[in-house]
Amino acid sequence: MKKNTILQLKGIRKRFGETTVLSGIDLSIEEGEFITLLGSSGCGKTTTLRIIAGLETPDSGQVILDGADITALEPNKRPVNTVFQNYALFPYMTVADNIGYGLKIRKVPKPDIAAKVEEMLQLVQLEGYGSRMPGQLSGGQRQRVAIARAVVNEPKVLLLDEPLGALDLKLRRQMQLELKRLQKKLGTTFIYITHDQEEAINMSDRIAVMHQGVLEQAGAPNEVYYHPKTSYVANFVGSANILREGNAAYAIRTENVLMNGEPECTREAAVLEKSFAGGQLRILFQLRDGQRITASRYGLDADIREGGACRIGWRPEHAVEVLDDGQ
Ligand SMILES: Nc1ncnc2c1ncn2[C@@H]1O[C@H](COP(=O)(O)OP(=O)(O)OP(=O)(O)O)[C@@H](O)[C@H]1O
Ligand SMILES: [Mg+2]
Repeated sequence: MKKNTILQLKGIRKRFGETTVLSGIDLSIEEGEFITLLGSSGCGKTTTLRIIAGLETPDSGQVILDGADITALEPNKRPVNTVFQNYALFPYMTVADNIGYGLKIRKVPKPDIAAKVEEMLQLVQLEGYGSRMPGQLSGGQRQRVAIARAVVNEPKVLLLDEPLGALDLKLRRQMQLELKRLQKKLGTTFIYITHDQEEAINMSDRIAVMHQGVLEQAGAPNEVYYHPKTSYVANFVGSANILREGNAAYAIRTENVLMNGEPECTREAAVLEKSFAGGQLRILFQLRDGQRITASRYGLDADIREGGACRIGWRPEHAVEVLDDGQ
């Protein structure tokens, strides 16, 4: 079934002074989609989101929502809500008043607000917390209140700018799952920002990888991971090796680098370094021509000695040709 396009960015350009921050962003987003803008610091993610929210005006290009051009529409007239990284709750209002704030502004009758707030508390699994003050909550709980406060307004599109950035890793993982569950339940379109590739892969229907104001590739997580179009995308999502040979560049995932004994291991390499991180053994090799290749394995050790030599290789289908953007 073909879904409706809810939001379109068409040729969005933005400069701050002499600096071009967005150089022509084109992106179509479907209704109910969870799409993540992924990219390193300064690549233009927040600026893109602020343009969608109406907090920033593009120099050229259009923002189309539900078929209507909203490029010049005021922020508060857009059916869009934003959740920022540092959950700015009103500190002297209870959790319930924080969540109900948007409805109160819109003059929704009190009993309706109370019912809606109760529903939201259930949704973010904070039943019974309505009368607490924000200062009496953990970081994760506060962030859930911030999300409830945005969701209660039933926006067509929810913009989330690194909403889990301030949380520790364990809570972050837990909140990723909760947010994803919430999004599926509500069916709201989420445009989510992170610079954490693992978070993007875990949560998104689609990932849009940005680099220096350019949208390099948008696709499902497995598409971006297994079929990166550029060397930047290959390196950023899943940290692949980039091997340059002839006039071409190839992305080779660290887990696909074979060592010793396998028939594909036709290249001689020096073993520069072995390290252990995140449950994985990583081995850094240097090929005869000086290029470096990293291999990764689950396990604590491999029968390979630092300072020694080894034969490495990969199956031909695991060397994916990519456009070389020098990254
Ligand atoms: N109001 C502004 N005036 C001048 N430059 C700005 C302004 N806002 C953003 N920039 C610049 O635009 C670039 C993109 O900023 P943006 O905030 O969109 O990046 P980002 O991808 O969200 O980065 P991060 O991951 O660090 O949040 C940066 O170089 C930033 O310094
Ligand atoms: Mg940002």
